[in-house]
Amino acid sequence: MTTVRIESTRPSGTPAPDGALVDRFGRVATDLRVSLTDLCSLRCTYCMPAEGLDWLSRAQRLTDDEFVRLVRLFVRLGVTSVRLTGGEPLVHPTLPSVVERLSSLTPRPELSLTTNGVTLASHAQALAASGLDRINVSVDTLDRERFRELTRRDRLPAVLEGVAAARDAGLGPVKINAVLVRGGNLHEAPKLLAWALEAGYRLRFIEHMPLDADHTWSRTDMVTADEILTLLTDAGYTVRPHGERGTAPAEEFDVTDGPGSSGWAEPVGRLGIIASVTRPFCRDCDRLRLTADGQLRTCLFAQSETDLRGPLRAGASDHDLAELIRTAVAGKQAGHGIGESGFTQPDRSMSAIGG
Ligand code: 5AD
Ligand code: SF4
Repeated sequence: MTTVRIESTRPSGTPAPDGALVDRFGRVATDLRVSLTDLCSLRCTYCMPAEGLDWLSRAQRLTDDEFVRLVRLFVRLGVTSVRLTGGEPLVHPTLPSVVERLSSLTPRPELSLTTNGVTLASHAQALAASGLDRINVSVDTLDRERFRELTRRDRLPAVLEGVAAARDAGLGPVKINAVLVRGGNLHEAPKLLAWALEAGYRLRFIEHMPLDADHTWSRTDMVTADEILTLLTDAGYTVRPHGERGTAPAEEFDVTDGPGSSGWAEPVGRLGIIASVTRPFCRDCDRLRLTADGQLRTCLFAQSETDLRGPLRAGASDHDLAELIRTAVAGKQAGHGIGESGFTQPDRSMSAIGG
């Protein structure tokens, strides 16, 4: 096993807050991603096979009461930000009620959602009213035929309606996630940026990670952050780093100039690049993940999980569950290790972990 040395980004001597979830590298977990369901209404080629996956059964999935109990516990243990994901979280029939219950926790966590946007248009207002703060929507292409090829569903118009509805409902700044695929949507990067700047959305390109169910990911095929920046520069954009990244996975850039312009007086918008593979941010990682079947994952690429559902259903106390969580966090791996010898893709794919 490779030993990776990482140092905490907290200034030395600064103690973690009392009772915080700290790992052996000094990283403090404050951000929880909750996959409410592994089901999804799309079949993105870079994520799922055409026929879908072996979905979890109803009995395997946590109930809303179980989700709320666990999130309440994580919040008591120092989690300040909760992101609801899937699969596709809008497929979860009682999503607004879950949001409402989580928004009444004390202390109240910041609540966000990552969605494919397919049914967002009809849910955005209700989600905002239930207490949701922010939303991220995946939009990989603005071309209807390419969207159909990439997601195996003809739903682009609905998604674009959903994005606008989220903005109108005040769930902003709306972030747009795009994964670029060579031979697919790669050349659309400048067009996606123009669209996002025009509409006031924050576009983030995400490097494709080895989490696809088909195990077809290849390092040489993957579109890198450098390549994306070159593509945008060649299209006439100028971007400049926007401050420090902190614990956020996205490197942020101000877009200061665009095609056909001779320099804008002010930056016209922001762009993010999540370069998990070529510019890993593991040393600053503050994230934990709870799967729809109640497994705690301390890394997207972890090979092991901590079962919280079993003890929960067997009557464990909050104290017992907190001990399990603390032990899991303490053992969090240093980094994802992609590219190192011995790296193996985890059994669960992205849609079953939550993004
Ligand atoms: N690598 C990178 N991003 C992925 N997503 C899904 N699968 C992968 C992958 N293998 C993206 C989705 C969504 C977000 C949660 O993660 O497009 O925007
Ligand atoms: Fe696409 Fe996300 Fe569904 Fe995977 S989980 S098929 S990336 S929408």
